[in-house]
Amino acid sequence: MQIPIHSGRLIIRPFRDSDLEPFLAYRNDPDVARYQGWNVPYARESALEFIAEMKTRQFTPGEWLQLALEVRETGETIGDVAIHCMKSDPRQAYLGYSLARAHWGRGYAGEAAQAVLDLLFGELNLHRVVAECDVENAASWRLLERLGFRREAHLVENLFFKGAYCSEYHYAILEREWKQRTKQE
Ligand SMILES: CC(C)(COP(=O)(O)OP(=O)(O)OC[C@H]1O[C@@H](n2cnc3c(N)ncnc32)[C@H](O)[C@@H]1OP(=O)(O)O)[C@@H](O)C(=O)NCCC(=O)NCCS
Repeated sequence: MQIPIHSGRLIIRPFRDSDLEPFLAYRNDPDVARYQGWNVPYARESALEFIAEMKTRQFTPGEWLQLALEVRETGETIGDVAIHCMKSDPRQAYLGYSLARAHWGRGYAGEAAQAVLDLLFGELNLHRVVAECDVENAASWRLLERLGFRREAHLVENLFFKGAYCSEYHYAILEREWKQRTKQE
């Protein structure tokens, strides 16, 4: 798999030990953690363990692979993009992303997602990519819609999460839809 990926402003690459401080900082921001699977405070030991695993992890069915997002111009680590290829069908994958709050609203998540989708639907020949998000996470579902994902489900209070039932949107895009879309751009 062609990693690192170079997009316009980003290098999408495996995590390194030197990512520890920026990674810990955004994982400990309640606004970044709100709709994500980890809790704040997020311990240094957990971050060390995470980076140790992600440094060498390959894109393997049934496991999340999280890649760091580095700004080419400054070398700063500003977030990560996550892909999880389904064990039951390796031509389908989940997509996720997190950015440090200071970098929201600049198109970095969209740029990273676009580069990763090009890889998944290109070199890796995937058929379908799905993403799930809390209905209240408008930044996330707006991003999915900008990328051309289709809202396929609205699940109502389906998940007990961080102390309350929440509702989710499920989004997906197919290889042919992505290719059609990128051909038009
Ligand atoms: C979800 C998340 C990554 C989205 O970040 P984001 O900054 O809104 O998304 P992007 O980086 O693609 O930026 C898009 C915004 O930047 C603006 N923008 C500014 N410069 C831009 C550029 N050069 N190119 C594209 N968009 C640009 C866009 O207009 C858009 O603004 P809008 O949302 O008001 O329409 C971010 O909110 C986050 O990390 N949240 C916490 C973690 C999380 O919840 N992850 C998802 C779990 S499902």
